[in-house]
Amino acid sequence: MNNRIPEEIVEDIRLTADIVEIISGYVTLQRKGKNYLGLCPFHSEKTASFTVNAEKQFFHCFGCQAGGNVFSFLMQKENWTFPETMRYLAERYGISLPEEELSQAQQQEQQARQRWIQILNWAGDFFHERLITAPEGALARTYLAERGVSAQMILDFRLGYAPDRWDALIEAMRKHQVQPQELAQAGLAVENSPQKYYDRFRHRVIYSIMDRRKQTIAFGGRVLDDSLPKYLNSPETQFFQKGRRLYGLHQAHQSIREKGFALLAEGYMDVIALHQAGWLNAVASLGTALTKEQAKLLHQITQRVMISYDADAAGIQAALRAGEMLCQEGLQVNVINLQGTGAKDPDELIQSQGEEAFRAIIERAETYVEFKYHTMMTEHTPRTIPEKAAFIARLAPDILAVKSPVEREGYERFLSYELGLTLEAVQREILAQTPGSSKLARKREYSGAIKDISVNNRDTINRPLDPTPPLATVPQGVYQAEWILLRLIDEDHSRIALLEAELGLSFWRIPAHEKIFLAVWEAWQKGNKRAFVYDDEEMLNVWHRILLKEIDTSQGDKIFRDCVRTIHNANVEENVEDLQVKMAQMEKSGDFTGAVALLKQIGERLRRDEK
Ligand code: GTP
Ligand code: MN
Repeated sequence: MNNRIPEEIVEDIRLTADIVEIISGYVTLQRKGKNYLGLCPFHSEKTASFTVNAEKQFFHCFGCQAGGNVFSFLMQKENWTFPETMRYLAERYGISLPEEELSQAQQQEQQARQRWIQILNWAGDFFHERLITAPEGALARTYLAERGVSAQMILDFRLGYAPDRWDALIEAMRKHQVQPQELAQAGLAVENSPQKYYDRFRHRVIYSIMDRRKQTIAFGGRVLDDSLPKYLNSPETQFFQKGRRLYGLHQAHQSIREKGFALLAEGYMDVIALHQAGWLNAVASLGTALTKEQAKLLHQITQRVMISYDADAAGIQAALRAGEMLCQEGLQVNVINLQGTGAKDPDELIQSQGEEAFRAIIERAETYVEFKYHTMMTEHTPRTIPEKAAFIARLAPDILAVKSPVEREGYERFLSYELGLTLEAVQREILAQTPGSSKLARKREYSGAIKDISVNNRDTINRPLDPTPPLATVPQGVYQAEWILLRLIDEDHSRIALLEAELGLSFWRIPAHEKIFLAVWEAWQKGNKRAFVYDDEEMLNVWHRILLKEIDTSQGDKIFRDCVRTIHNANVEENVEDLQVKMAQMEKSGDFTGAVALLKQIGERLRRDEK
């Protein structure tokens, strides 16, 4: 890839783009002092802990630790690559980017992709037109009408009909100069014998699978009766992989954001019925088990997924697997259980019992852990102690994936009660299933440590990760002094030299503080104002927390001196302690002269310190 964007242009974009303006497109921000506060778009919360700092152009969430600059915000929120983000911002702020130089292979691929999209959309138009107006589409129109599909859904989902002929599409595409061979490459025709082609989709209702820009990228075709196979789907090609797409997302993404959750169904018809009933946040995977990529796709736009699969045994197994996938991806998962409603899937429930029935059942949705618990209980109720241990171990990964400590403990208590075990035993069994030290745990080590006495909007900030003391050996005062010094240095860079003169460069006890200091120090030495490269997540997180603390800068110099003294005293105290130990050893070994000399030294240290 030789389409790197020159550093000056990146810098230009950085200086032009305004983080408050960009983020306001996603989050309602309210001004609070120097900062802006809003509900975090990266996790769901009721009180605002998402902070945007206009002055330094960064964001930070006290709830989920998300943080970064305007670039990382867009990259996380839109799942864009760095160049994609640059292109978007450049266009928005009228900055011109150098023409991209694509390699020949890239150019060819781009052309092939454009041609493929073009062919699929022509085909989509053809099928759609056959369904809506052609006499030969009458059967399909009746079929959909009988299943209760509205005209609006036929338009929104670009439903179609593939005629009952061997070459309907092949013939129709000739007017666009698309050869049968090309249709075969796009998965729309099949090569029978050399140079002999026929339409893949015949006499089927067509479901257009679209991307977010509403371009057709594949089709599903359903028979109009009970013959088999019920569905026929586009084959996978270079440009279409079903595990990376979700049916209905072109219509659903806006609503998923607004409602705060996605409804995940199994079938095309379920998605359509749900949309028709007003659940515009419904999507489905494309006839296969939910993949990790699909879970990620959902996670980009929401924090919560409500699984609404079929009521049969296969549907329950599929819900267990999908739920696990979604939990591991960090999403909150609920499961709607259709058992006992008499309907086999959401579509049938809505058709036979109305929208209200579905609404009622959504309200009774279980969390994924509850659902798995009940399913496992139905399969086999554990009776012996080893069975109970194994039972808990099977649930452990799902409980460990739960982010809320309150909810997690709720499950532990529930299990303890239901299985007749002590809470402690349940908790230990669950903890024993922890896989290594997770990234999150490492992240908590320092970022959770800061106790801000000085943050004035304390009660509006929720921090589930708070508070664990930093390192057992670092006194709280020193810890505080360190971050305050960093903050003061940032206010006034001339303090860097002062600090270096007073305490040197290597007095830091908190590694993250030291890293930040060295980055600032290095940037200052080079005469560079912008200290950070956005790659050390932990350091950045700590730094943002420090920058967001309110301190009385009018007293800056005095506070600076106090902090220097605190750190100095702590060092002296430690030295004195060392000397005292040494002195005791000398006394023991009979070296009284040495001991007296040390005593004098200690006295001097302490006196100097009092000044
Ligand atoms: P209806 O019977 O029209 O209500 O279909 P449905 O959308 O409810 O589908 P169902 O629950 O039977 O299956 C769920 C999904 O699995 C479908 O939407 C298809 O994507 C896929 N699927 C079902 N049957 C087949 C099949 O025979 N072949 C293939 N390739 N996919 C299928
Ligand atoms: Mn169905």
